[in-house]
Amino acid sequence: MAGPGGMTGDMEGRQAAPDENIDSILTEDRRFQPPASFSSGARVRSLAEYQALRDAADRDPVAFWAGLARAELHWHKPFTTAFDDSRAPYYTWFGGGLLNVSYNCLDRHLAGNAEKTAILFEGEPGDVRHISYAELHRQVCRFANALKARGIGLGDRVVIYMPMVPEAVVAMLACARIGAIHSVVFGGFSSGSLRNRIEDASARAVVTADGGHRGGKVIELKAACDSALSEGCKSVETVFVLRRTGSPISMQPGRDLWWDEAEANLADQCEPVWVDSEHPLFLLYTSGSTGKPKGIQHSSAGYLAVVAATMKWVFDIRDSDIFWCTADIGWVTGHSYIAYGPLASGATVLIYEGAPTVPDAGRFWSNCARHRVTIFYTAPTAIRSLMKFGESFAARHDLSSLRLLGTVGEPINPEAWMWFHRVIGHERCPIVDTWWQTETGAIMIAPVPGAITTKPGSCTLPLPGIDADIVDAEGNSITDPGHGGELVIRRPWPSMLRAVWGNDKRYRDTYWGKFGGHCYIAGDTAHRDRDGYFWILGRSDDVLKVSGHRLGTMEIESALAAHPRVAEAAVVGKPDETKGETIFAFVVPRGARPTPEAAGELSSELRAWVAQQIGPIAKPEQIRYADSLPKTRSGKIMRRLLRDIARGVPITQDTSTLENEEIVKQLQGES
Ligand code: PRX
Repeated sequence: MAGPGGMTGDMEGRQAAPDENIDSILTEDRRFQPPASFSSGARVRSLAEYQALRDAADRDPVAFWAGLARAELHWHKPFTTAFDDSRAPYYTWFGGGLLNVSYNCLDRHLAGNAEKTAILFEGEPGDVRHISYAELHRQVCRFANALKARGIGLGDRVVIYMPMVPEAVVAMLACARIGAIHSVVFGGFSSGSLRNRIEDASARAVVTADGGHRGGKVIELKAACDSALSEGCKSVETVFVLRRTGSPISMQPGRDLWWDEAEANLADQCEPVWVDSEHPLFLLYTSGSTGKPKGIQHSSAGYLAVVAATMKWVFDIRDSDIFWCTADIGWVTGHSYIAYGPLASGATVLIYEGAPTVPDAGRFWSNCARHRVTIFYTAPTAIRSLMKFGESFAARHDLSSLRLLGTVGEPINPEAWMWFHRVIGHERCPIVDTWWQTETGAIMIAPVPGAITTKPGSCTLPLPGIDADIVDAEGNSITDPGHGGELVIRRPWPSMLRAVWGNDKRYRDTYWGKFGGHCYIAGDTAHRDRDGYFWILGRSDDVLKVSGHRLGTMEIESALAAHPRVAEAAVVGKPDETKGETIFAFVVPRGARPTPEAAGELSSELRAWVAQQIGPIAKPEQIRYADSLPKTRSGKIMRRLLRDIARGVPITQDTSTLENEEIVKQLQGES
């Protein structure tokens, strides 16, 4: 079996997947049927029921989604046009309808479930809070009133740069309540990344905190925010600051307001603003193949309808569940499966602020045990890193409350899947390996747990209504087992992205620019096995997945090239047992190549520089120096060659066209 690195694939030039991936997939013959005890009580109980749902969706997709949107959402005014493709690929759903997302996540639960816990919070230091739906409603209304008091209204952009505390969700829902568009920026991003995102969206307000607890340290969010706002960001009028850590910070009079002071004396009722179905709910910036992250824009109705439906299909959510998704709220997983999905479902969601290893590597399992978590959704990288600590940490905690496990963000290697199944799920809990993206809004390919037999490492079959396919360079379906290709979705679906903020062309070209313009291009390569199960091989573009975080190679290259000592840089991913991939940078310095001693120092400086420019997650693990980079005659960097060098495997590419073949030795660290 190939390691996790093998599973990430390497599909430069849209070629077939490397043989070892396909071989490993074809030889993975373990099967796990849904336990009868799970299926009997599940929402979708059998393959036949799943198939019936899929058939209904395929017969008349628009009617299927329209029925689902009516069933899942509270409409202030019903929609009249379920789907409009007259401006393809700028598709719209549920036209003519009016709704409010915060109403759907809060108010509609108040009649029967006001006192039910909506958010169960545990801070890294151990502080615990239970927030009922009634209380969350009051908090959201109060903060919505605070936003309004500062002039924020319909369509205004609000950047949220927060630790993993309930107030991050409060701020999101408060925006939704008044029709403001939020853009959450991951708290691990640096001030530079924050600034770019504020500027791209021309945000009027920023919501942040004095700090957050993570890994036993205080993350200084307000300081990063001040630094971001010190240059540019002219659109920002107000900064709301939550007190979390009590760290000393500076407040700029007129601009900065403490959260509690901003909402003091404000009502805890706030009429929802009824918005069009297509009104943007949020922007979320994500990396692509260019240096500039794109603001993925999601709608209100279509997004929420599918997110809510997947809570049922994939997570089989019930009233008694305690649902825990360990993602950060700054990623789409946090948006869809911490905030909107669970709350639209009226569920109880656990939010944990900190790191998995504080105070020890048993923290996740201790949280599960103490809060009686029933559904646990995490990333393969977290599983792999906790596996390294052995089984004893999990064994110390009572995991009997768990009934369903899930993974997301990157391919899971079968070894990690099996460990999750055995050590955490006690061979009792189905595992849902969920494939989706920032752009898809909700889960697209995953086992419906009461119905689908799972195979370790496969995300199995598409959900009802999702017409996923794997195609060759001409857009023809590839059905032969053993042949990899481009993952596409052939039909629009309601939770798909609507735009790249401020860049219609980039939206059209990136996602719909091939195969006749009618197929959504995911940017992943995949393969189907004999049973039609999907196996994701990795990205087909210049996007890396480092510990599940999505980073563009170009972004890191431009950050490196902005350093005064760097003339040019190329970044590639190197397979890694735990992180999936790590960042390997080849750097052409200005002036002479550093001596081995000086290289160490320069590398530390460059790593710190990238952390400051983008965020610590983007720091190159390894840096190698050369007098130039290997390029084709047309001037393109030979990335496949660099990848082979980073992996330390024999070079398979023809290097005879290189101007200076000596460069290869330098890049290999041999001269
Ligand atoms: O390459 C795929 C990988 O993560 C990418 C999307 O990243 P992002 O937009 O950050 O969203 C992550 C959380 C939804 C995809 O293009 N990916 C996501 N889930 C899986 C996966 N790769 C394999 N298996 C998965 N289950």
